[in-house]
Amino acid sequence: MATRQTLTLAKPDDWHLHLRDGEVMAAVLPQTTRCFARAMVMPNLHPPIATVEQAVAYRGRILAALPPGVRFTPLMALYLSDAFDAAQVAQASRSGCVHGVKLYPKGIATAGQPGVSAIERCYPALAAMEEHDLPLLVHGEVTSTLVDIFDRERTFLDETLAPLVARFPRLRIVLEHISTTEAVRFVEQAPPNVAATVTVHHMLMNRNSLFEGGIRPHHYCIPVLKRESHRAEVLRAATSGNPKFFLGTDSAPHLRHTKENACGCAGAFTAHAAIELYAEAFEMAGALDRLEGFASHHGADFYRLPRNTETITLERGQWPVAERIAVGEAGEIVPLRAGGTVAWRLCAAGAQPA
Ligand code: NCD
Ligand code: ZN
Ligand code: ZN
Repeated sequence: MATRQTLTLAKPDDWHLHLRDGEVMAAVLPQTTRCFARAMVMPNLHPPIATVEQAVAYRGRILAALPPGVRFTPLMALYLSDAFDAAQVAQASRSGCVHGVKLYPKGIATAGQPGVSAIERCYPALAAMEEHDLPLLVHGEVTSTLVDIFDRERTFLDETLAPLVARFPRLRIVLEHISTTEAVRFVEQAPPNVAATVTVHHMLMNRNSLFEGGIRPHHYCIPVLKRESHRAEVLRAATSGNPKFFLGTDSAPHLRHTKENACGCAGAFTAHAAIELYAEAFEMAGALDRLEGFASHHGADFYRLPRNTETITLERGQWPVAERIAVGEAGEIVPLRAGGTVAWRLCAAGAQPA
């Protein structure tokens, strides 16, 4: 079979994205809107987006920051806290703009963010979410310092997620940014209301990437990259065609000095080359024909939103990744593969590949 040179797919959506606010948002938004129609926007701002009013206002700021003429739909997620109650769930599900509620276990979050200290305190809100069919999005890691950092995800599955799925059998749950064989297995074996997002960095890189010739702060994210056997299994699941797995970049902008730091922030910025890097990953798995399901269909179907009707086209061809993305006066972001190359390129909208 001849090597494929182009690939046209329904316009994809990003089901896990950090846009931040202000200058950073203005700098990163065009990176996402160049190829994604919609994105589930994470609520971990300072302070977090915890109420419908805050989500509506944040959505307004995102729309106001869009480049002229660009069509893009931000889908909002609320930050779950112990204080979240059934009335707020009802309000969120009526709002039309809130599509999920995000659980960050306490201690995962950056300083100053509450997180959830004991999941039991959220049971009334979760029961209401199940009733209103409002999905729960989960950062699935325990935070106890007694649990090895590489075991944080799989321990969470046993301690928190399995009981949650059993207690709320109709609640739609998305396990975000899965990084382990155990998470793949958990999602595969769970009922259809449990799904997962997969980042491109967890598909392409193993934990050796953290120490390639020295310590690599731009490869540090949470969940931390795992050993090769886990990467291979995450790649296999994401490229298998199983509709439980869909695209969520977790593209997470941090200014360079906050990552290149004695206590560097967690997060990889991938929006600048997201769909192109996913194409690399799918090609690596010999599954380019399954990229469209993963990137453009499975997530929309899970969230019960219409599939996008526009298309994008990718063509084979190396292009150089910038060393830096400028952020107004504030500084710069170092994108994944900075100074390197990517093997697939996005054709300009409407352009026919050569
Ligand atoms: C995210 C961020 O920077 O907000 N960082 C990360 O490493 N994934 C937080 C998150 O997704 O948990
Ligand atoms: Zn997370
Ligand atoms: Zn994230």
